[in-house]
Formats: sequence, structure tokens, C-alpha cells
Amino acid sequence: MSVTTVLDVQRYKAEGRRFAMLTAYDATTAALLDEAGIPILLVGDSLGMVVLGYSTTVPVTLDDMVHHGAAVARGSRTALLVGDLPFGAYQESPEQALGSAARLLKEGGMHAVKLEGGAHMAGTVRRLVENGIPVMAHIGLTPQSVNTMGGFKVQGRTPQAAGELFDSARLLEAAGAFAIVLEGIPDDLAARITRALAIPTIGIGAGSGCDGQVLVVNDLLGLSTGGRQPRFVKRYAELGEQVMAAARAFAAEVESGAFPDAQHSYGASKPPEELRYGG
Ligand code: KIV
Repeated sequence: MSVTTVLDVQRYKAEGRRFAMLTAYDATTAALLDEAGIPILLVGDSLGMVVLGYSTTVPVTLDDMVHHGAAVARGSRTALLVGDLPFGAYQESPEQALGSAARLLKEGGMHAVKLEGGAHMAGTVRRLVENGIPVMAHIGLTPQSVNTMGGFKVQGRTPQAAGELFDSARLLEAAGAFAIVLEGIPDDLAARITRALAIPTIGIGAGSGCDGQVLVVNDLLGLSTGGRQPRFVKRYAELGEQVMAAARAFAAEVESGAFPDAQHSYGASKPPEELRYGG
């Protein structure tokens, strides 16, 4: 099977075909999601919160993104790989953005980058696209701006804010973005933006009127431990429960001496075999 490209994603919209995007941060998860046929894997800077233990995405570095991006690229075969430009790695100037994005493609194995921000980012998007770097835009609730938004809050609720988001979406499309994430905005606004654009919109907390939908994979799998989850999250599995049950069962068997038994030990008479983790 061939690798999904930005042109494929644009064709999905032209054909009225809805599509899924999921985050991935490591090779194993990327391989599983790829095998499941997810067309776009996002190495999101959400990794700061769900993998690295930060309370926001602000501390995530470009080195973090390159490191996790390269792991995802090793695990994935066919998905379009999109890597987040982290906070502080692109806001200074289009030149800074170009240097950071080039690292995500060259060292991180990404096919495209995502950046947060509205109209003021249009020039940066144009600069990247003109230099051969596909850009996914991201407006609405932009987590890197948590400090100016005063928290992770739904955006675009006043007519003025809605108008600004609508105008931003049009400008980012005109600047060459191949797709745009709409996060945490009212569903009627997201549907209106989706109808107005030729490029696909990908929603998260933006209702069913978007062309695609994205979720953070840890949320989808039920891997998060406690805390209140936002309304838009749907857990399709409860792997967190299974992880804890497996860990408890292992510890109990170690303590009782039931593990390892003969089946999981090496006798002198058995043929040699390769020892590998995660096989
Ligand atoms: O960082 C991320 O995972 C994201 C998605 C939630 C859209 O930006």
C-alpha cells in the first residue's frame, strides 16, 4: 500500500469522504494505528501532557518532537505523518519556523507540520509551503496559548470571536494550508467554516460538521488515569483498567511464586532461541 499524501487528504474532502486522524507518540502505537488503517497520524505536542507528564503543552521542545516523531516514523508504513511545531519553535519569524519544520521533516521523519494560530500565522504558513513543507493549520482552542486564553476553554462563542475564526480559516487556506484543525469551537461555527473552505477541516470538540475528526490516542484507549475528561472525548476502550489488572496479576504471581513456571523458564534441553523485548 502507498503512503497517504496531502493530496489524498484533499481528495477525501472533494469526494465527501470523512476521515480519522489520531495522535501517536511511539513506534509501537504508530504500527498498530497504521495497521488499523488510520490515514493520518499526528505526533501532537499533546505528548507533553499525556506522555511526558506536563500540565500543558508549553514546555515541549523541538528536540522532544523530533525524538518522538522519529519513533513514530519507524513504526508507521502508510500513514501521512504530521508533526506539531512546539511552542517557541516558530512564533519568532517565518525563518525560525522554516528551520524548525525542516528538522521535523529531516530528523523526525514527518511529511508535514502543524502549527497553531490564526490570521497572524498566514505569512509563516505561506513561507513553509513555498519551501516545500505542507502545513496543517490549527485554530480555535489552541493549547499553546493556554496562558492568554486563561485555561482550556471553548473559543468563538461571541459573534466577533466567531467572525475572527472564520476569517482566519479563510486566510490560512489562502496561504496554502492543506488542512485545518478546528479545536474547541461551537459546532455550527465549525460546520460553517467547513462549508466555506475547499481544504478539509479536522475537528476535535467541534461537532460533526467537520470533514475529519481527531482524538488523542490515550483518551480514545482509556489510558488516562483519573481527572475530568472533556465532553468531546469518547473512550473506545478502557486499557488503563487492563494495564492495572495485568500489573496486579503479575505482582501477585511473583509474590506467590507462581511466576515464572516451567513454561516460562529455560531448561538445558530446550533449543536456543532469540531473546527480544516486545516480540
Ligand atoms: O497536540 C495535539 O495532539 C493536537 C490535537 C489534539 C489536535 O494538537
